[in-house]
Amino acid sequence: MLSGKFENSIIYKRSSVRSYTEEPLASDQVEHILHAGMAAPSANNVQPWFFVTIDEKDILKAIAKGLPYGKMTASAQLAILVCAKRDVADEDPFYEQALGAAVENMLLAAAEGGVGSCWCGIHSNSSETDDREIMFRDLLNMPDGLIPFALIVLGVPANKNARKRDRFDEARIHRNAWPRQ
Ligand SMILES: Cc1cc2nc3c(=O)[nH]c(=O)nc-3n(C[C@H](O)[C@H](O)[C@H](O)COP(=O)(O)O)c2cc1C
Repeated sequence: MLSGKFENSIIYKRSSVRSYTEEPLASDQVEHILHAGMAAPSANNVQPWFFVTIDEKDILKAIAKGLPYGKMTASAQLAILVCAKRDVADEDPFYEQALGAAVENMLLAAAEGGVGSCWCGIHSNSSETDDREIMFRDLLNMPDGLIPFALIVLGVPANKNARKRDRFDEARIHRNAWPRQ
């Protein structure tokens, strides 16, 4: 574990949470998460994101039914579908990196307030992406101009014993250039 002045950083307190209590999220907490998403960096500052907040229980349950790896959505208090604006994405080869940065900011903003979160991947290079996109288009009556990218599932953690995370592996660090022959 890292020790010293950075060891209590929120970065190491976040972990994926897939079981939630019935406690609703405070509105200022939700505002913080949305603001944090839009504080993310993006190439040329194009800000390709668009967020859909979902707190209707019927919709959350329907999402859980349609996502094999998103069953936790059924007990969530809120899910945020992070989308890309299609016209911006078509012009921006880096839009996926910007959206990833926005998602991580939002997970950390949730962790800051003791809210549990789980990132569920929606958009990918695999053919399963099509089924997931169709489901969201149908369920949310979503316009074609938006690409569903990731779902952030949120709620107060049912298990309060949060684990500390530090997966540092020195072997993954390379310093400077590789030797030339
Ligand atoms: C792009 C991406 C997609 C993911 N999709 C899912 C998912 O569909 N369902 C899920 O339960 N977790 C999903 N996760 C969470 C990972 O399983 C999790 O981050 C990883 O196991 C490390 O655990 P930690 O988040 O607790 O550090 C996803 C994470 C990323 C970055």
